[in-house]
Amino acid sequence: MGIPLLDLKAQYQSIKEDIDKKISEVVSSQKFILGAEVESLERELAAFCQTDFAVGVSSGSDALIVSLMALEVGDGDEVITTPFTFFATAGAIARLKAKPVFCDIEEVSCNISVEKLEELLENQYSKPGNSKARALIPVHLYGQCADMTPILSLAAKYDLLVIEDAAQAVGAEYPIEGGSKRACSMGDVGILSFFPSKNLSGFGDGGMVLTNDEKLASKIKLLRVHGGRDKYFYDILGGNFRLDTLQAAVLRVKLRHLDGWLQKRKERASSYDRLFEESGLVKEGLVKVPRALYKNSGIQNFHIYHQYVIRAKERDRLQEFLKEKGVGTSIYYPLSLHLQKCFSYLGYREGDFPVSEKASKEVLALPVYPELTSAQQDFVVSSISDFYKS
Ligand SMILES: Cc1ncc(COP(=O)(O)O)c(C=O)c1O
Repeated sequence: MGIPLLDLKAQYQSIKEDIDKKISEVVSSQKFILGAEVESLERELAAFCQTDFAVGVSSGSDALIVSLMALEVGDGDEVITTPFTFFATAGAIARLKAKPVFCDIEEVSCNISVEKLEELLENQYSKPGNSKARALIPVHLYGQCADMTPILSLAAKYDLLVIEDAAQAVGAEYPIEGGSKRACSMGDVGILSFFPSKNLSGFGDGGMVLTNDEKLASKIKLLRVHGGRDKYFYDILGGNFRLDTLQAAVLRVKLRHLDGWLQKRKERASSYDRLFEESGLVKEGLVKVPRALYKNSGIQNFHIYHQYVIRAKERDRLQEFLKEKGVGTSIYYPLSLHLQKCFSYLGYREGDFPVSEKASKEVLALPVYPELTSAQQDFVVSSISDFYKS
């Protein structure tokens, strides 16, 4: 039984008629840059993420860059983030000549550790004259929000701007007193990615910046078109960070299905939890299933399971075994960012972030998507059992 890590063809088949119609409308109009589709998507996604403004941009990576540019983070500034994330989070900081400062993660969620963050801020930034830290980028990894309430109070205490990297977490919810908040609505700015493998994905690259700050949104709109208010007259130095009309059109069709898809991902995740429990693998300590934090809050869809990531003993051999069985898996991420060659100039060493380093040796993402069948899930878990039995 071949089970891909992600089956985008199955998703396309389920919405083909609407998508093809929309694409054909855009092609007939021969208008491909920004326009009404992008504006409508911005309005719809702002509402979905519970923010006042949204600005469509060319990718999640560019959303990070343009947000940092708008917040005037640059040369000499320090930006704190997790070493256990996709490269773009730290890459955006470094590309603007600011310095990424890493903070270890928390074992269960693999998100930035509040305890370690507090320690870092106290040790490095509490003395007078050492206030180079300008911003903090918590990443909502795998689709689960970082622990935002304490993060936001630490940011307020140390006067840090907060950029939520929600590239993997569109629609994820974080519990607050009496309710919940959606990813991107809690910091100064939030960003999304529409890379084809994301829960809300385009037919190519795309991204979005979300904020409640009107001035910031206007500035990002300006930066998106090279900084020019009028054609060929440039007020500030920007770039080409535009979102294609075609991408917006596709994303608007998909957005209508997103709530249902997120619910189905959650159901698939619960089925995996149950199957792993029944298999005995969890009890024997061979596999750890992802734990949904904030479990008792009663909030639905708090974790949107962009990835269902287990921690596995002998992870690399297990991955090889599953590949032979036709089960697609992936490792997010095999090397912590502080150990990447391109960041060697930062001076970090192995052992600096042990929780992140350990996670990079144990994590394994399994197939999870709305179209995944229960027979396929059975096969994935029984194949994992076979591996440990052999
Ligand atoms: C956490 C995180 N941040 C940023 C990005 C960058 O998004 P994009 O690939 O759209 O540039 C990604 C995409 O994989 C991501 O997972």
